[in-house]
Formats: sequence, structure tokens, C-alpha cells
Amino acid sequence: MATPSSQPVFRATTTAPVNIAVIKYWGKRDTTLNLPTNSSLSVTLSQKSLRTLTTASCSPSYPTEDTLNLNGRPQEIQSSKRTLACISSLRTLRKSLEDADSSLPKLSSYPLRIVSENNFPTAAGLASSAAGFAALVRAVADLYQLPQSPRELSRIARQGSGSACRSLMGGYVAWRTGELADGTDSLAEEVAPASHWPEMRAIVLVVSAEKKDVSSTEGMQTTVATSELFAQRVSSVVPERMTAIEEAIRDKDFPKFAEITMRDSNTFHATCLDSWPPIFYMNDVSRAAVRLVHDINNAVGRTVAAYTYDAGPNSVIYYEEKDTELVAGTIKSILGATAGGWDGPFYEPLANVTSSVSL
Ligand code: DP6
Repeated sequence: MATPSSQPVFRATTTAPVNIAVIKYWGKRDTTLNLPTNSSLSVTLSQKSLRTLTTASCSPSYPTEDTLNLNGRPQEIQSSKRTLACISSLRTLRKSLEDADSSLPKLSSYPLRIVSENNFPTAAGLASSAAGFAALVRAVADLYQLPQSPRELSRIARQGSGSACRSLMGGYVAWRTGELADGTDSLAEEVAPASHWPEMRAIVLVVSAEKKDVSSTEGMQTTVATSELFAQRVSSVVPERMTAIEEAIRDKDFPKFAEITMRDSNTFHATCLDSWPPIFYMNDVSRAAVRLVHDINNAVGRTVAAYTYDAGPNSVIYYEEKDTELVAGTIKSILGATAGGWDGPFYEPLANVTSSVSL
């Protein structure tokens, strides 16, 4: 019998980017399948400073349980239904490959070891769960050599964290809410590659790297159950904005893209304030950045910058490359010089998703 050390170890490494929604996902119509109440659309950020790096490996020599290590700390994988759902779907796909071809190694029967590392603060409103679950799904899919496309894999990543389904692609990505009760049509798709609008830039203003008070999952459940504004957002506001922002992206119409982005962030935070008890994600520093963006746009006489806020106080500001000095320069000089606790800012150009695999 082979000694454990002589047993093979199979391994794949990948990275996944952060995405920042311009039309926000906020609300689930099915909490078990993690299906959204509305479609959403995001922009994928560059992986140069915001990304998750994940290595998935498996071996007959590993101890019997699957393990997950995040930023150097072991995670309670057995109590995380979401992680278990992703792993189990990926294993089932691998098993069907092995059943069809008996020469393939039986990777689906070996324990998995997943090691993941973020290069940005976890759970600080910087969409860490999106990059995290996208990287986990991509790494295990690569390890298992699954033929599924990113679109098909988005169905699995969605079960980890809704927004994760949009981090399997680069550029401008829509997550369609879908109509089927089993969620098979609730998938992400690239509406335009990053190369379609390469002038787009984003600056992330890190107001606080602390963990947020109310998680997205918990916050959106409260909003769905208690906000009176929410129904209108889902039935008419978001569908109209999805169509309009896709047109703005197609036409590279920055003022239109910017207004929809800012209005959707504001509507999302209004439904949070309208929840009972109310939920506050933005703080005084976030609001100062909102005012500054409107001031810059008014002073210039055209819309050159757009803010958006997720479930936390950090701002993401979109602008076009030609306006870098006007936008990033002004923000740095004004907010960088005032009190208010900026840890940043830092900014990143957009880029496509990259993936490196070693087996
Ligand atoms: C405000 O994807 O973190 O960032 O599906 O419960 O894990 P779960 O929620 P999550 O929510 C993200 C909410 C948001 C908006 C967005 O990214 O679309």
C-alpha cells in the first residue's frame, strides 16, 4: 500500500476580482436558493489591489474533512451552508465526468483543502464575499477541470453569495433575476467587456475598514420584510434603470451612466433607512463625499464623477480617464486634507478577469 506521502496532490490556483454594483442587488425572493428580488449590474474592478487569491487542492492523503482557510485562519466550513452548497454542486459535476470516463482520477472522492487570501479588508463593504466565493468556485472548477462556462458557474457562485455570481466575469456584468422557481435562469452575463469602455476608472475611498454592523444578508431580509419603498423599487424602478444603464454602457454615455448609478445608490440606501428598525450604512464622511461629487459636477458644468455605496460607508467613485485630475485629484486634495478618517484613497483602473491554473 502506498504511504500517504507518495499519494498525489492535485492543485489549482486562481484569482477573482471585486465587483461594485451600479444597480444594486438588495432582497431575496428565495433564501435557500439565494434568488434575488431584482436584477443587478456591476463593474468589475482591477485585480491589481482588490482581489482574492485561492488555491484548491485535493488528495487521497488528506484527512477526511474538507477544510477552508481564509486569510490564515481556519473557517468553520461544516456550519457554512453556503460553502457546503457550492462545494457539493462542484463535486456533483466532477462526479458525472468521472462516471462518464473511468480513466479520470476520482478527485470527487478526495477531501478538499481550500486556502484563500484577500488583499483588502474582509466584510468592510468592499464586496469581499463576492470575490471570495467567485475565487472558490473558479479554483475548485479548475481543479476538477469542469467544462462549464463562467455563466454556468455563476449559478453555483450565487449560492455562496449573490454578488459573487458577477465576479466570474470581467467588464460590465448583469445578474438577471430570472423567472423560474428553481433559479436555473438566475445567472450572470457579461453585457460588455472592459475593453468596450477602457476609459472607465474607479476610485475607492476607504472610510472605514471595520466589519459592518448589519450584514448584507440580514439587512436585505429586514428591508424586504419591513420597507414600504421596497416594493416600488423592485417592480418599476430597477427594471427601468437596468434597461437605461445598459443603453448608457452601450453608448459609452458617462453622464447617463453616472446619474443612474448615483440615483440607484441613493434609492437603495433610502430603502435601508425606510426599513424597520432603520439600517444606516453611510456615515458623515460618506455624505461629505456625496456632496463633493455633486459640487465637482456642478463646478465643471458636466457630469464627470459618480458615487456609489454598498452595505458600508466606503465610497466607490466612477469617472473617465480624461477626468482623472479633475476627479481623483480634487477628491484627494480636499478629502485627503480634511479630518474624517480616510484610510485611503486608492484607485484602480478596470480590467478583465484573469485566471491562472496549475495542475
Ligand atoms: C449592497 O451578495 O453580500 O453589495 O447574497 O446575502 O451574500 P448575500 O448578499 P451579498 O449582497 C450584496 C449587496 C450589495 C449590492 C450588490 O452588490 O449588488
